[in-house]
Amino acid sequence: MLPVNPDRFLADLHHLRSFGASGVGKGVVRQAFSDPDIAARRWLADQYAAAGLTAHVDPVGSVWGLAEGRSLLVGSHSDTQPEGGWLDGALGVICGLELARAGKEAGRPISAVSFQDEEGRFGVTTGSRVWGGFTSLAEADALTDTTGTTFAAARARMADMAGDFVDPARFMGFLECHIEQGPWLDKAGEAAGVVTSIVGIRDMRITFSGEQNHAGTTPMHLRKDAYRGMLAYQQKITDRFRNVVTPETVWTTGHVDLYPGSHSIVPGRCTFSMQWRDGDRDRLERMEAIIREAIAETADEQGLMADTSAMLALDPVPMDAGFRAALETAAEAVAPGRWRRMPSGALHDATSVAAHMPVAMLFVPSINGISHAFEEDTAEADLVTGLTVLAHAAETIARG
Ligand code: GLV
Ligand code: MN
Ligand code: MN
Repeated sequence: MLPVNPDRFLADLHHLRSFGASGVGKGVVRQAFSDPDIAARRWLADQYAAAGLTAHVDPVGSVWGLAEGRSLLVGSHSDTQPEGGWLDGALGVICGLELARAGKEAGRPISAVSFQDEEGRFGVTTGSRVWGGFTSLAEADALTDTTGTTFAAARARMADMAGDFVDPARFMGFLECHIEQGPWLDKAGEAAGVVTSIVGIRDMRITFSGEQNHAGTTPMHLRKDAYRGMLAYQQKITDRFRNVVTPETVWTTGHVDLYPGSHSIVPGRCTFSMQWRDGDRDRLERMEAIIREAIAETADEQGLMADTSAMLALDPVPMDAGFRAALETAAEAVAPGRWRRMPSGALHDATSVAAHMPVAMLFVPSINGISHAFEEDTAEADLVTGLTVLAHAAETIARG
């Protein structure tokens, strides 16, 4: 096993939390390119340099700690959701830092990374998607967040640090450790999950436009209320998905914007997010057909105009069999009988990286299955177990 230092690892994990620490408990607010995010990335670059790695920032703000020669890459992301916890992404980033340090001591080249905007202020996994060649820099630059700020303007905030993109060919593979963000390991009292595959995702914005009017004088039957359009659409897809989905399928509207947003105005416009996830590509496509049909029918029935943004589409990705086997052997050695194989319902940078090299992921339990919330947490003993499993597997993989 690589000679990792659990105390140093936990101290760094807590230090990373201090950038943007907010809300109750161990909450963090550190969205991509915010002041705390940039400060955390500067700190991380200093830690990589202190570990004897070459610290490097790429044009989209991902921070790299590069070992010499061909190396195993370990990492995740250090940006958070608008309200997030201290571990989503941060755990994998600090595992990467600690493994890179331990690799130096052991003579095994390990590089580390914190990808930018995994949480999708501007899309989803923006930094790793651009680096991986799925989205061009020009396409990414045109993306906007919910306030209209462009990715181009946001990344300009780190321009003083930025160099070129890193060549994926210098890495032999990628390992990412992450909190589960769901309830299964915690409920079962298990210590680790070896990921079999990462879910596929589709994500877009839908806009219904109707007629803005006075809320006191416009009779109900004459309204073209964009919000009521959204409600009718939601009812239609909920009814029609019933024949298509499985208990693992999920769909979410997490953001709704009503224009102009007054108690006394019938909303003339409703823009809302629509995201759906499943492990099966065909099912994702059948759901898309239902969604598009429901949008058109709703607009027709209610006299509204409908518009959809470009759809983000990431297909389900299986993990590499050899890397997975290394994680399974390590999990059995470190936590005998207390680990399982499981799919990931959350999205991860590993999806983008998988196009270029073998990848695998390890999960540790999330207390009460909570994530993307201030209450997100994991017992420190479980965090250290995750690090230890990763240190075993990385040694096996880096030995070749
Ligand atoms: C990543 O955080 C996701 O939305 O799954
Ligand atoms: Mn994450
Ligand atoms: Mn997340």
